[in-house]
Amino acid sequence: MAERARGRTIGFVPTMGALHAGHAALLDEARRRADLVVCSIFVNPKQFAPGEDLSRYPRRLEDDRALCEACGVDVLFAPGADEVYPPGFDTQVRAGRLASILEGASRPGHFDGVLTVVALLFAVVQPHFAVFGEKDFQQLALVKRMVRDLRLTVEIVPMPVIRDVDGLALSSRNAYLSKDDRARAPALSRALMAAQDEAQRGVTDIARLTAAARGMLAATAGVVVDYVEVRDPRTLEPLATLDRDARVLIAARLGGVRLIDNGPVFAGVRYPR
Ligand code: PAF
Repeated sequence: MAERARGRTIGFVPTMGALHAGHAALLDEARRRADLVVCSIFVNPKQFAPGEDLSRYPRRLEDDRALCEACGVDVLFAPGADEVYPPGFDTQVRAGRLASILEGASRPGHFDGVLTVVALLFAVVQPHFAVFGEKDFQQLALVKRMVRDLRLTVEIVPMPVIRDVDGLALSSRNAYLSKDDRARAPALSRALMAAQDEAQRGVTDIARLTAAARGMLAATAGVVVDYVEVRDPRTLEPLATLDRDARVLIAARLGGVRLIDNGPVFAGVRYPR
């Protein structure tokens, strides 16, 4: 990018569109740090397995453009699939062990698709830094891992989960929820809080923390739990006791819509929510 040669700091926010206040927070952070803010909108077919929601993933380019303008985005990059993957494209990044657990266990190949497009977008945009939300905590960990492993010269800036007033983590896929399921969906954030409350009381046994979260999920009809885990925040390895800062990660289905959420759980100290 010529802008880079001119010495301007380029900040990048990769997205799949259907932008909401969570994306706006990423863009605001990029705006705060960069001379030039680039936002990409590309619904990446390589990260959807057959039968997933690629064809019905929300596409709202005009609304997205307005949000980008309001957030002071300088360049909105919304390429077509043929531009990103021209005929003959035949290379992909293969994510390692971190991609086989948690989300990767339910969505094989998903993170290979994510890392392939993220590496490709980094090569095109050549940002100094890129902002990723902690909402997709495992994705963030994998992107950081790829940047370290491949010695990419982009700084990864994480941003906290942005929540609706009732605690539901913002996600473009929340639009799939029926009215009733939308009302039930804050069960996930209540479950995180239940685990955090236990930790705050001094409980360090991980099984007790996850049991508290599961109990909260079980109290809401229609919630089908996929996993509730407390993991090392960097390696995502399981922990037996809360002997360090950790992450509670939850995935559950509501009316067929898969929701994920996560939050910090600190050993023996108070923490903000
Ligand atoms: O988090 C997302 O929206 C996507 O996974 C990303 C990082 C834009 C890659 O397609």
